[in-house]
Amino acid sequence: MQINWTISCLAFLIFISSCKPSDSENVIELNPKMHTFSNYDKVTTKHLDWDVNVDFKHKNIAGIATWTFENKSKSKYIIFDTYDLTIKKIKVNGKDVQYFQTPMIDDYGSGLSIPITEKDTIVSIEYNTGQKATALQWLSATQTAGKVLPYLFTQCESIHARSLLPCQDVPANRITYHAVVGVPNGMMAVMSAKNPTMKNPDGIYEFDMEIPVPTYLIALAVGDIEYKAIDNRSGVYTEPSMLAKATAELSDIPAMMKAAEELGGPYRWGNYDVLVAPPSFPIGGMENPRLTFATPTIIAGDKSLVSLIAHEMAHSWSGNLVTNATWDDLWLNEGFTTYFERRIMEKITDKSYVDMQWELGYQDMQSDLTTMGMDSADTRLKVNLNKRHPGDGFSNIPYEKGAVFIRLLEETIGRKQFDIWLNNYFNKFAFKPTTTEDCLKFMDEELFKGDTALKNNIQVNRWVYEPGLPDNCPRSNPTRFIEVDKNRTNFEQQTAARNLITKNWTTHEWLQFLRKLPHPLTADKMKDLDETFHFTVSTNSEIADEWYKLCIASNYEVAFPAMEQFLTNVGRKKFLEPLYGEMIKTEKGKSMAKAIFEKAKPNYHPQTAEKIEKMLK
Ligand code: BES
Ligand code: ZN
Repeated sequence: MQINWTISCLAFLIFISSCKPSDSENVIELNPKMHTFSNYDKVTTKHLDWDVNVDFKHKNIAGIATWTFENKSKSKYIIFDTYDLTIKKIKVNGKDVQYFQTPMIDDYGSGLSIPITEKDTIVSIEYNTGQKATALQWLSATQTAGKVLPYLFTQCESIHARSLLPCQDVPANRITYHAVVGVPNGMMAVMSAKNPTMKNPDGIYEFDMEIPVPTYLIALAVGDIEYKAIDNRSGVYTEPSMLAKATAELSDIPAMMKAAEELGGPYRWGNYDVLVAPPSFPIGGMENPRLTFATPTIIAGDKSLVSLIAHEMAHSWSGNLVTNATWDDLWLNEGFTTYFERRIMEKITDKSYVDMQWELGYQDMQSDLTTMGMDSADTRLKVNLNKRHPGDGFSNIPYEKGAVFIRLLEETIGRKQFDIWLNNYFNKFAFKPTTTEDCLKFMDEELFKGDTALKNNIQVNRWVYEPGLPDNCPRSNPTRFIEVDKNRTNFEQQTAARNLITKNWTTHEWLQFLRKLPHPLTADKMKDLDETFHFTVSTNSEIADEWYKLCIASNYEVAFPAMEQFLTNVGRKKFLEPLYGEMIKTEKGKSMAKAIFEKAKPNYHPQTAEKIEKMLK
């Protein structure tokens, strides 16, 4: 990424100096730390009126983005981020203006500079999205459950909102929005805003998000979507054939919400609904305000994977209320949220359950620490993504190292005191862009209160600013895994699969069992496991994923057709990358991976497809 960036920037600077030398304020530079071209800190967008049509035939969104802005610094230009957008016309306070758009820089798009005067407050930009839009995934009817109507969803975190609309695409800036979205007959549109509960025969939907949000939380989905309520503030949006099953699976949302409010304070966003997206949704979940987007792979039939919803719900406090000021501070979003998620789960299940989650999370973190290297700068909680893509900071570190650090604070200070602090933290930084330093300062003031021995004992600076893992990392020893490990050892020695005591095992016990088995496992043992527990045809995505990894390592060919089916149907990166990664370890596996990818590619999100294509080269 770095080299690419340097080259593009050089090329770009040469370009600027050759064609726009006259006006120094109009030099549009990428801010490599904030990953934006925009001058959001000088001229600040406040409100968006978004009036667009969704065109499934041409796979684009076209219309007008009207921004209300504040020009406190009396700048002569307002600069936006765009990515593969075609700009048709721009008006400032009602008058046509000439604008300037830089050439495209890989991953970041182009800056769009528009001349303004001191008096101006409104700019309207007529545009349409492009074929390379990284925020959009267009599905054909055959890629949906109903097979009749096509589908569209967006995924804007971290810096993809700019491919949906011209915006100042930085988490440090917050905007309110009003949207009018036209869609084809028979479809429903939903956003991260106040949503309809019925289809509208004219295909025009209106939305309001009156609470300021960063642009990465703008979201839209369009398709054959229906709504079913769970209680008076929560419900599920999904395709009709999924609605009953998804609603039943997510029926604990009100209990989760009660638990979350006990910890975080009142939920401030009005409704909390979940959109269960089609299987090609590229991630597990996204905390779009009022409407979490989630992968259908969490609908396991036994509620065993719904902690993902607790996670996205928790972001309503850590993330959506208190937002990382820069992507270097991602752990403030994801670490606090992972901790918060487990506190919710502890309340609605029990300690034996969350202990398993903590342990599996610990294993994920260890695995990343090993791959990245204990001295890798990217294993710090506060990372440095200057001149790098925000995606480069994404790993289990912000999530699991972040969460376990917060847990260490809780355990050292005591839950009662810590919970008071956490509540105050959410209130103090609500709606403010928050840096790691803001958070640490608030810990100093209201948690350590001058007790330097306490702070040193925790090793705060080491946790946050140094790579690797400090030696005071808390770890759970789940009692339920002790039984699993005993059974696994017996199985590895001589016990037949049918004689293992697995009666009350849930997803997490199975994950522990499968992860800890030797890779590869002998053909006989694979056969014995599969014939007894039917892993190959498991409808539990987490178990299937873990099993297929073992199958590849053990060359257990019986499972390959089902694995191919899984890889073609599911678009969730977390499952795809490790499975392709496992396959490419051998020549034979690599050609299998290539063949599967060719078939599966149309179902993958453009960015996921690109990543896997690179792996297979
Ligand atoms: N906000 C994240 C997703 C995200 C992070 C997208 C960074 C782009 C950049 C979301 O809350 C999340 O963490 N999703 C997880 C599920 C969670 C249970 C760990 C996922 O998608 O796997
Ligand atoms: Zn998250």
